[in-house]
Formats: sequence, structure tokens, C-alpha cells
Amino acid sequence: MSSGERLYRAKCTSCHRVYEPHEQTPSQWAATLDKMEAEKKVHLTAEERAEILGYLVGSSALR
Ligand code: HEC
Repeated sequence: MSSGERLYRAKCTSCHRVYEPHEQTPSQWAATLDKMEAEKKVHLTAEERAEILGYLVGSSALR
């Protein structure tokens, strides 16, 4: 498991199911991260955000 995936699972799956990368397009994932952060559901450092987005977008593109 990549560090991005590990971080995603640690930070993003406590409140809801594990959304799969292919469920959203890369631009949707960026907007989803904005929304989760804006609503103060999750706090991410810039580095964490980049790792998580890299995992979600990278795996999304593999579809
Ligand atoms: C503190 C709880 C909490 C955390 C942590 C959290 N979420 Fe959410 N998330 C929610 C809730 C509540 C909803 C459903 C309500 C909504 O859409 O605002 C949601 C909805 C979603 C959806 C569905 C959005 C849609 O438009 O259908 C996705 C995808 C998602 N979250 C991804 C993430 C990701 C990625 C992270 C980590 C960065 C994350 N969530 C962290 C509470 C959380």
C-alpha cells in the first residue's frame, strides 16, 4: 500500500465508507478534498493533501 493510500485510509474513512479512486474524476477529487477541508471535517497539511490527492487521482486515471 502506498503512503498516499495509507494516509487516505487513516484520514478519510472514519466518517464514511472507503470511496474508491475511480468513483470520481481527478477534478472531482480536488473539489471533494476542498469540501472536506472547508467543512472542517478533516485537517490536512499541504503535504498530506498532496499525497492523498496523488493516490486518488493516480488510481482514478488507471481506470
Ligand atoms: C469528520 C468526518 C469526515 C471526514 C474525516 C471525512 N469526511 Fe468525507 N464526508 C463526510 C460527510 C458527513 C459526508 C456526506 C455529507 C456531505 O456530502 O457533505 C462526506 C462525503 C464524502 C464524499 C462523497 C461526496 C459526494 O459529493 O458525494 C466523499 C468522496 C468524501 N466524503 C471523501 C472524503 C475524503 C477524501 C476525506 C479525507 C480527506 C474525507 N472525506 C474525510 C464526513 C467526513
